[in-house]
Amino acid sequence: SVERALRPRALSEYIGQHRVREQLEIFIAAAKNRGEALDHVLLFGPPGLGKTTLAHIVANEMGVHLRQTSGPVLERPGDLAALLTNLEKNDVLFIDEIHRLSPVVEEILYPALEDFQIDILIGEGPAARSVKIDLQPFTLVGATTRAGMLTNPLRDRFGIVSRLEFYNAEDLTHIVKRSAHLLNAETTPDGAAEIARRARGTPRIANRLLRRVRDYAEVKADGRIDVAVASAALAMLEVDPQGLDLMDRKLLEAIIHKFDGGPVGVDSLAAAIGEERDTIEDVIEPFLIQHGYLQRTPRGRMATQATWRHLGLTPPKPAGAPD
Ligand code: ADE
Repeated sequence: SVERALRPRALSEYIGQHRVREQLEIFIAAAKNRGEALDHVLLFGPPGLGKTTLAHIVANEMGVHLRQTSGPVLERPGDLAALLTNLEKNDVLFIDEIHRLSPVVEEILYPALEDFQIDILIGEGPAARSVKIDLQPFTLVGATTRAGMLTNPLRDRFGIVSRLEFYNAEDLTHIVKRSAHLLNAETTPDGAAEIARRARGTPRIANRLLRRVRDYAEVKADGRIDVAVASAALAMLEVDPQGLDLMDRKLLEAIIHKFDGGPVGVDSLAAAIGEERDTIEDVIEPFLIQHGYLQRTPRGRMATQATWRHLGLTPPKPAGAPD
């Protein structure tokens, strides 16, 4: 994929997420010293922050293979059993969207994680027998957008739980500069910072914007990405000065214009803007909430004063306020 070319392959190249990186550095060094598999790792946080990248880095640093799959792909217990029985000593099995494993597949996983063993049912009816198979020790790296969607027994089996956070502007600027270098794109410091500032704290978005801004710079200017070119390109891409995109604004406008500023339930909101509920909860909302453009209350989502102002509107007076 286009993304893969920009992915760091070692922890030392990985920018940001300092706490997670420091922890992994120590746990990986210790496991390697003992010649053991790294304990199972759960990575959670919004999409595009580097969960898949970290899974690959863990395997590289451990010096083992990585096998990759995802929750929805594993339909039957045999699908997972086939993967598990092919792992070599201390390999990494990466399961993306691990919250979407079916219950029967999850059942197989428990003894695999705890005792490196699986119980497989062979045959049907009265002739059916359960057979135990020993596995090589391995590391499960599971990724999910929200840790709260995992069942408790599954979550309890991860010895290392890491939450990825949105990147600050400084780290994201560093990532944009690194990516620009790998893409042979010329950026000024201000140009790189402008892309980073408007990328919703997310490397995947920053790298995508960088490619589009580079296109713009090559066609509309001399190829160099300075702050003026970056701003013009981002305006064309309908990314506003705060970094909110079309979907962000559509959601905020719906809350204000269709639901009087809220509170509104997420399902009503999903219907109003024609998006999946999961996309709203996993992709759109986390950044808006963190930046104060959206409030989550027990009665639903609400606009804030910042929402009104961002859309160029005058916030309504709080109830009871003097005229
Ligand atoms: N590319 C995408 N995410 C990155 C990160 N965290 N560090 C370096 N390069 C990246």
